Amino acid sequence: MMIIWSFCLIFCISNSVLVIAKDLCLPDQRDALLEFKNEFYVPSPNSGFMIIKGKTEKWRNNTDCCSWDGVSCDPKTGVVVELNLEYSNLNGPLRSNSSLFRLQHLQRLDLANNYLSGILPDSIGNLKYLRSLSFRRCYLFGKIPSSLGSLSYLTFLSLSENDFTSDSMGNLNRLTDFQLMLLNLSSLTGINLGYNQFRGMLPSNMSSLSKLRYFEISGNSFSGTIPSSLFMIPSLTYLDMGTNDFSGPFEIGNISSLSNLQQLYIGENNFNGPIPGSISKLVGLSALSLSFWNVGGGIVDFSIFLHLKSLRSLNLAYLNTRSMVDLSIFSNLMLLDELDLSGINLKISPTLHLPPPIKTLILSSCNISEFPKFLQNQTSLYYLDISANQIEGQVPAWLWRLPELRKVNISQNFFSGELTMLPNSFYSFICSDNQFSGEIPKTICELEILVLSNNNFSGSLPRCFENKFSRSILHLGNNSLSGVIPEEILSGNLMSLDVGHNQLSGELPKSLMNCTYLQFLNVEDNRINDTFPFWLRSLPYLQILVLRSNEFHGPISSPGDSLSFPELRIFDISENSFSGGLPSDYFVGWSAMSSVVAIDYRLIFAASAGLRESYHKSVVLTNKGSKMELVGSGFTIYKTIDVSGNRLEGDIPESVGILKELIVLNMSHNAFTGHIPPSLSNLSNLQSLDLSQNRLSGSIPPELGKLTFLEWMNFSYNRLEGPIPQATQIQSQNSSSFAENPGLCGAPLQKKCGGEEATKQEQDEEKEEEDQVFSWIAAAIGYVPGLFCGLAIAHILTSYKRDWLVRIFSAFLLC
Ligand SMILES: *[C@@H]1O[C@H](CO)[C@@H](O)[C@H](O)[C@H]1NC(C)=O
Ligand SMILES: *[C@@H]1O[C@H](CO)[C@@H](O)[C@H](O)[C@H]1NC(C)=O
Ligand SMILES: *[C@@H]1O[C@H](CO)[C@@H](O)[C@H](O)[C@H]1NC(C)=O
Ligand SMILES: *[C@@H]1O[C@H](CO)[C@@H](O)[C@H](O)[C@H]1NC(C)=O
Ligand SMILES: *[C@@H]1O[C@H](CO)[C@@H](O)[C@H](O)[C@H]1NC(C)=O
Ligand SMILES: *[C@@H]1O[C@H](CO)[C@@H](O)[C@H](O)[C@H]1NC(C)=O
Ligand SMILES: *[C@@H]1O[C@H](CO)[C@@H](O)[C@H](O)[C@H]1NC(C)=O
Ligand SMILES: *[C@@H]1O[C@H](CO)[C@@H](O)[C@H](O)[C@H]1NC(C)=O
Ligand SMILES: *[C@@H]1O[C@H](CO)[C@@H](O)[C@H](O)[C@H]1NC(C)=O
Ligand SMILES: *[C@@H]1O[C@H](CO)[C@@H](O)[C@H](O)[C@H]1NC(C)=O
Ligand SMILES: *[C@@H]1O[C@H](CO)[C@@H](O)[C@H](O)[C@H]1NC(C)=O
Ligand SMILES: *[C@@H]1O[C@H](CO)[C@@H](O)[C@H](O)[C@H]1NC(C)=O
Repeated sequence: MMIIWSFCLIFCISNSVLVIAKDLCLPDQRDALLEFKNEFYVPSPNSGFMIIKGKTEKWRNNTDCCSWDGVSCDPKTGVVVELNLEYSNLNGPLRSNSSLFRLQHLQRLDLANNYLSGILPDSIGNLKYLRSLSFRRCYLFGKIPSSLGSLSYLTFLSLSENDFTSDSMGNLNRLTDFQLMLLNLSSLTGINLGYNQFRGMLPSNMSSLSKLRYFEISGNSFSGTIPSSLFMIPSLTYLDMGTNDFSGPFEIGNISSLSNLQQLYIGENNFNGPIPGSISKLVGLSALSLSFWNVGGGIVDFSIFLHLKSLRSLNLAYLNTRSMVDLSIFSNLMLLDELDLSGINLKISPTLHLPPPIKTLILSSCNISEFPKFLQNQTSLYYLDISANQIEGQVPAWLWRLPELRKVNISQNFFSGELTMLPNSFYSFICSDNQFSGEIPKTICELEILVLSNNNFSGSLPRCFENKFSRSILHLGNNSLSGVIPEEILSGNLMSLDVGHNQLSGELPKSLMNCTYLQFLNVEDNRINDTFPFWLRSLPYLQILVLRSNEFHGPISSPGDSLSFPELRIFDISENSFSGGLPSDYFVGWSAMSSVVAIDYRLIFAASAGLRESYHKSVVLTNKGSKMELVGSGFTIYKTIDVSGNRLEGDIPESVGILKELIVLNMSHNAFTGHIPPSLSNLSNLQSLDLSQNRLSGSIPPELGKLTFLEWMNFSYNRLEGPIPQATQIQSQNSSSFAENPGLCGAPLQKKCGGEEATKQEQDEEKEEEDQVFSWIAAAIGYVPGLFCGLAIAHILTSYKRDWLVRIFSAFLLC
């Protein structure tokens, strides 16, 4: 025994000595890796911004590079064959001279989920042994280099979720570079080009991709017909071409029963006319989506789907059919567990018995007027959406007892009654736009997503003592809720809180301070009596802050302690009793409004919380002098500051001039004095400016004439004087926009001006003010560390559908 153990020990030691002695890493490979690492800026996790630690962080020159995080070497030769740096916080462009391209033996390269922001260099073709390549979600743009077509070993390629474009505009009969590249990759078994800006047609003969199993190009603008040659590829099992501009005719050709196709997604395209019966030949299908196929109001023969006995998932939403569909026909599809028939006029007989144990059932806008009773027996149901129908009365009690049910959307119906039975096993419950009444159910403490907006709930909000700390969305807006907002109702994961349009009182709960991920906070139109929540400044992701129409009071600035809302895009504190002055540097640090800079955390969070879906997020704002409700995608582009209807005094802060992205600025109905800062003329995106009902003096700065997007402005009820500037935008305003300023003269007012007013001294003053603005701009630039340039570029490149040249240019300007 002893001898065996000793041997073992000796063997083990010698072996580990060997491992230590034999450094697998080759110096040229190590240097290439280290240089590659240094080509990118990696924000340190303690900067308070980044959550994920990059893989390159622990790479050190004096250690075996083959043991580094994300690196694998060939055990015989020591060359690096795999580099997996997914989620490594790499920021910056991938240059054509990057040391990456010295890792000539790479077979697998995964740089997904980084901020590579730039074009994909041609040198990628140098890595000729690549088998698997992923740049998924990397902010890359421009054409795919044709050199990719020479990677003859490539079996898997993912370029999804970037901003790639194609060169499709040429002669339709000539194969484009993109098509050549694609067809040349004959070893490919998987390709994912989803969610880019690709346009143009696919090559009609795709049979060279004879090994293809997985083909995904959804979320682009591909057009033309879907090549039937795709369906002839015997290995093909997965085909996702949804959300493009493909149109008919849809032909799957003369396929034999040999097709192995299991998943076919071609929904959200431009298909017109009848759905071809030949689809029924794809008998291996387990998932099929034809949503938004426009059958032109015609009749659909739903029996063609009944041949597809393997179907588990079927999406026929919004076919634009006149057919009234009897839900019972789907009871022949015994494996079905996911069915979306939204937008189809459904007949659901009271005695319907649907045998397949469905898990997901989406019947939104189906003209259903009675709660479907058959659901009672759907004991596997996990997700039910019967929103936007005409169902009245109470929710049947048995619904709450379905054992697997977790997600429910019954919004936009005529439900009434109370919700006392809402079970705590639910994960998400959406019942906005109904007529529910009574108290908010206690179980709301347990739900992750709860949307009760636009109902008639009353009483106070429950205290949540056993907080599961998982809630991310709580929308209770437009009810009759009263009392205070309890501290305990908020969990650390809260991303969105809307309690606007109620009768809530008391203070804003301080526990919001601990909601690090909060992006949306709306308490408008309540009776909250509190001072300005300076402590919200600790929330790095806050994008929307609406305190409008409450009883807030006191100053909104605190001396020597400037506010900084890096992500804020909507700031509405109007109709309160805020008072005091604002220091001239007040807006320095409001980065999202001063540039297109913003770290796109939404991408990170949206994925985790499904925030791409709509949860009835709404804000009532004032724009161009009238109220409007902002909902849905409006939030992403709208940038506004509204401090109107308070008792703010002193000068309008000069630093307002750095908020270049601002669309609406409303400072009316306050007690602001001093001159209108000429720096306002820097707000080149401004569409609506309201400075009325203040005590502003001096003249209207002629520079404001530069603001070509400015459609609406109001200077009335001030102490302004001198001639109204001649610029077209200003002259096109109604005279009421200038009314009640005793000293103002010139068109559009009736009163004529006497003569030249501006004296030399005034001009000098203006010059001085401009210089000040410059210093604020400098301060603001210093505030946003230059290091974030990469992120900034990434954002510019992804958030706006501008021409890409313009985008590069703006990225340049920014840095
Ligand atoms: C790593 O260290 C070696 C010497 O130990 C040196 O020659 C080499 O240049 C270093 N590489 C990098 C990228 O710093
Ligand atoms: C790569 O090219 C850029 C300019 O395009 C240059 O600044 C950089 O130093 C080069 N890097 C290397 C490793 O040669
Ligand atoms: C096709 O691949 C071959 C090597 O397999 C390569 O030489 C050729 O350049 C490629 N063509 C295109 C258009 O990429
Ligand atoms: C499609 O292309 C393949 C070669 O990739 C060729 O053999 C075949 O004849 C072509 N089919 C048609 C219908 O053009
Ligand atoms: C379809 O294929 C079958 C054999 O699989 C053949 O007999 C028939 O002629 C083909 N039809 C067409 C239209 O090509
Ligand atoms: C909805 O169903 C009713 C019958 O229940 C029918 O009269 C009405 O036309 C349907 N509405 C639509 C838009 O199809
Ligand atoms: C539920 O199923 C049982 C038998 O399993 C049946 O008797 C009952 O009628 C069904 N209820 C509904 C509403 O379909
Ligand atoms: C509040 O809800 C009612 C109906 O419940 C609706 O008419 C009204 O427009 C809603 N108000 C807001 C501000 O959303
Ligand atoms: C809302 O509920 C109150 C009782 O809490 C009731 O008096 C009122 O009529 C309800 N309003 C609507 C529109 O149902
Ligand atoms: C925030 O969380 C910390 C630690 O969980 C806790 O001690 C503190 O009381 C919380 N602050 C508020 C205002 O709830
Ligand atoms: C706000 O609360 C304070 C006491 O905390 C009270 O003095 C004041 O009147 C309240 N304001 C309003 C508008 O009710
Ligand atoms: C719930 O249903 C409404 C109405 O059909 C829809 O607008 C909303 O997007 C749905 N929300 C979710 C999260 O599915």
